[in-house]
Amino acid sequence: MLIIFLFLCTLSSCTPGILPTDLIFGVATSSYQIEGAWNEDGKGENVWDRLTHTKRDKIADKSTADTACDSYHLWETDIKMLKWLGVKIYRFSISWPRILPTGYTNVTNRAGIEYYNRLIDGLLEAGIEPMVTLFHWDLPVDLQLRGGWNVPESISLFVDYADFVMSQYADRVRYWLTMNEVRIYCDHNTNILIPDGLIDPERAPYDCTRNLLLAHAKVYHIFNKKYRSLNNGLMSVANLFAWYETAMGDEDEKKSTELLLQYYNGRFNHPIFSNEGGWPSLLIEYMEEYSKSKGYNTSLLPPFSEEEKQLIKGTADYIGVNHYFTFISKKVSIEKSDMFFNTNEISWREGWPETPIPAIGENKTKEYKKYNYSPGIRHVINWIRENYEEWDILITENGYRGGNIRDLIDLKRVSYIRDLLRQVILSMKEDGHKIIGYIYWSLMDNFEWWSGYKEKFGLFDVDFKDPNRTRTARLSAKYFACITRRRDLDACLRNV
Ligand SMILES: *[C@@H]1O[C@H](CO)[C@@H](O)[C@H](O)[C@H]1NC(C)=O
Ligand SMILES: *[C@@H]1O[C@H](CO)[C@@H](O)[C@H](O)[C@H]1NC(C)=O
Ligand SMILES: *[C@@H]1O[C@H](CO)[C@@H](O)[C@H](O)[C@H]1NC(C)=O
Ligand SMILES: *[C@@H]1O[C@H](CO)[C@@H](O)[C@H](O)[C@H]1NC(C)=O
Repeated sequence: MLIIFLFLCTLSSCTPGILPTDLIFGVATSSYQIEGAWNEDGKGENVWDRLTHTKRDKIADKSTADTACDSYHLWETDIKMLKWLGVKIYRFSISWPRILPTGYTNVTNRAGIEYYNRLIDGLLEAGIEPMVTLFHWDLPVDLQLRGGWNVPESISLFVDYADFVMSQYADRVRYWLTMNEVRIYCDHNTNILIPDGLIDPERAPYDCTRNLLLAHAKVYHIFNKKYRSLNNGLMSVANLFAWYETAMGDEDEKKSTELLLQYYNGRFNHPIFSNEGGWPSLLIEYMEEYSKSKGYNTSLLPPFSEEEKQLIKGTADYIGVNHYFTFISKKVSIEKSDMFFNTNEISWREGWPETPIPAIGENKTKEYKKYNYSPGIRHVINWIRENYEEWDILITENGYRGGNIRDLIDLKRVSYIRDLLRQVILSMKEDGHKIIGYIYWSLMDNFEWWSGYKEKFGLFDVDFKDPNRTRTARLSAKYFACITRRRDLDACLRNV
């Protein structure tokens, strides 16, 4: 009965569901979210260890990732699951303080280095390419206490760390990502993770973004010079691309929606992927106006010199796209938009409610967030092409946000994956984009940052009450395992 329900489709979603054989499938995780072993074998403390240990109230279920999925010990089980799924890429991240406990290269941790050696070798033996994210938010706490990504010193420390990691693994790792979702780290995490008084919270998101972009670019140039040739490597960055739609479609709304797209997508990607480099011009204009209105005599958005623009421009081999949300933005007047943008103040810290979010301001601008809305991916990829012209696209993250439900028969996730991949097919066939891979977030349920364990994204359920952290395949895992092999969205529905 339920399977029949899944087969019902409107004409537009009944387009053929055959995926090309050369589309690479993968799944993703990140170190802090799955590894556990937070203080084992010489690992240093990271900012999330510190936050979850000292400010439990910030996490929805007051949990920590001290043990998480225990992948530090259960990595062989993880590899078995990956093999069973039939994926060709496993995207994971390296914990900076597991390799360099204090953040600096003058102290290295052999046990940490060996952990990733075992994982990488195990993956290759299983016929799976490791895809390494160098920074997925778990900054060594010592660096955070010095101002974290808000001070330029972090750039050279990250470059040293990345150089060291690549020197260990680039002979075997082909796929590299410098960092994950700069937007979330800089706009939402930085001000909470950094001790009070160390930075100006108004400037923090922009200084952080600038420093991370420069760090990304420098690592890319080192990769080019020293490591790419070892294994025909590829490097990019996994940035979040949200889609924004207007509610009523009038001119004012279109204008503010475009501004939102540049503020939230363009800020992190325009400097790397656009032809002209640097910040998007719409963002520069907006930030000048905004900064003035706040009484600053220079823009809060720190400018790039011409040299810096050139340094950053083009520093990727494809565009990594993390996509989860579509926002519906209702009319917003530019004068009030300062508050509109501070959605982190009103929503992120509350756990991003799905109900309409009233922006503060006389006009009560409303922003509606839609999760699990499959057409968003196609819109966002078209937007990328309009703004940055020709780039290969690799969907570095996408997944179904399932709430706090431990369901093994997760029909909604199955149907989301089917709908989303149908949009990917349309994006390739109808819109002519070159999409080289799709990586599902996540292999298994894990510590979902501010939501703790209350937000499930996994193809595998994890029993966090069981000391063995037993993993169980959901229906969606069986569906995904069929798709990676048969590549037929509809035939695979009959299969599960
Ligand atoms: C490593 O370098 C940092 C920064 O220069 C310094 O503070 C620290 O004392 C050094 N540690 C050792 C063990 O040399
Ligand atoms: C800008 O503001 C700073 C601090 O408020 C002040 O010291 C500086 O003189 C101002 N610069 C100009 C050009 O007004
Ligand atoms: C709301 O915005 C409109 C323009 O979009 C304006 O005419 C109106 O005065 C505003 N209302 C308030 C209460 O600010
Ligand atoms: C955990 O694993 C151990 C060793 O494999 C086993 O003896 C034990 O029964 C398991 N516990 C649970 C709750 O599954």
